Amino acid sequence: MIRFQTIPRLALGMGMTCLALNAAQAGEMTTQTPSVEKQRFGQLPDGRKVEAYHLRNGHGIDMTVITYGGIITSLRTPDAQGNVDDIVLGFDSLEGYRSDAYRQSNPYFGALIGRYGNRIAEGRFMLDGTTYELATNDGPHHLHGGDKGFDKRLWQAHSFENDTGVGVELRYTSEDGEEGYPGRLDTRVTYTLTADDEVIIDYHATTDKATPVNLTQHSYFNLAGEGSGSIVDHRLMLNADAFTPVDDTLIPTGELRDVAGTPFDFRDATPIGARIGEENTQLVYGQGYDHNFVLVRDDASAGELVTAARVVAPQSGRVLEIATTEPGIQFYSGNFLDGTLIGKGGDAYEKRSGFALETQHFPDSPNQAGFPSTILAPGETYESRTVWRFSTQRDDNAS
Ligand code: GLA
Repeated sequence: MIRFQTIPRLALGMGMTCLALNAAQAGEMTTQTPSVEKQRFGQLPDGRKVEAYHLRNGHGIDMTVITYGGIITSLRTPDAQGNVDDIVLGFDSLEGYRSDAYRQSNPYFGALIGRYGNRIAEGRFMLDGTTYELATNDGPHHLHGGDKGFDKRLWQAHSFENDTGVGVELRYTSEDGEEGYPGRLDTRVTYTLTADDEVIIDYHATTDKATPVNLTQHSYFNLAGEGSGSIVDHRLMLNADAFTPVDDTLIPTGELRDVAGTPFDFRDATPIGARIGEENTQLVYGQGYDHNFVLVRDDASAGELVTAARVVAPQSGRVLEIATTEPGIQFYSGNFLDGTLIGKGGDAYEKRSGFALETQHFPDSPNQAGFPSTILAPGETYESRTVWRFSTQRDDNAS
């Protein structure tokens, strides 16, 4: 098990250590101080305004979050040579996220996902003797919160600066019955961009009736720069010795399957594309990787941050490490991108031009007695944290 907090550089608001900087980054550092700036991003058809918050960490990283869907529309980081690129897929106007083409393919670029990230079989579950029927928006199933999930809602926001970094706090209240879910859910998510080159995402929710909750973030990364082509050369490490196999509609069978000897073994860093074309039923069902991995953690680390994933882009030398308090992570290799969406840089987002790593509880947990529970009861507080840490390395072959 890899406990993330044993890595000394993890800050989380405590003793921060500076990264080694190359000349370009050091140059930027002298000209930047951490800042957060609010601007108008667009307007919804009903007249409500959508704001953008631009966060800068004073250390060469900046990111933009909009109040529509809590979407991260851009995240710019330096590569190993100090060149700064935007490494997340998305658009630079609200229309991009609301176009017919976008709604049809529904990739959830950069969005906050709720009330339930991932699928619930047939949009149905039973809780305390009552059967609830949810919106079905993925064939017969419920996906990522339904027809109008948290990714399509307008969030209330305010920015903050504290000892950890600069950030934005987003709030959304999901009414009782929304998309078929029981209970009024008060949700708060904060994004903090730290001086230690991390994005910390904190999720918090309370309810007045028992309800499933499984919040996540759906950024698509391309560590060579968005719009630069395929991510299959990225080397991925997943701290998982099992995954949850699915049926041909991507609903888990309930099994926790050992990754050993399968294309799902990423315990040692492996290029994403190395085995993606193998004849493997699970890869056929997902049209590539679209699976939940069970993170290695012992009982003592339940609810603590553990390293979930590490991704290295060989050419740019960018490294992304992900830690989470969640038990699982969905690795989605961008299989359903098909070139119909043109991104902010003018490039078509082709198949596998980005990958998502969605920290989460397991899919379809409300119908899977053997999976960790996702039910939040009145009086309880849902708390979840995910940390993305950005760095660079120069050795292309190192993992
Ligand atoms: C998740 C799902 C995928 C796909 C994407 C969005 O990752 O598991 O099947 O729906 O979201 O396109």
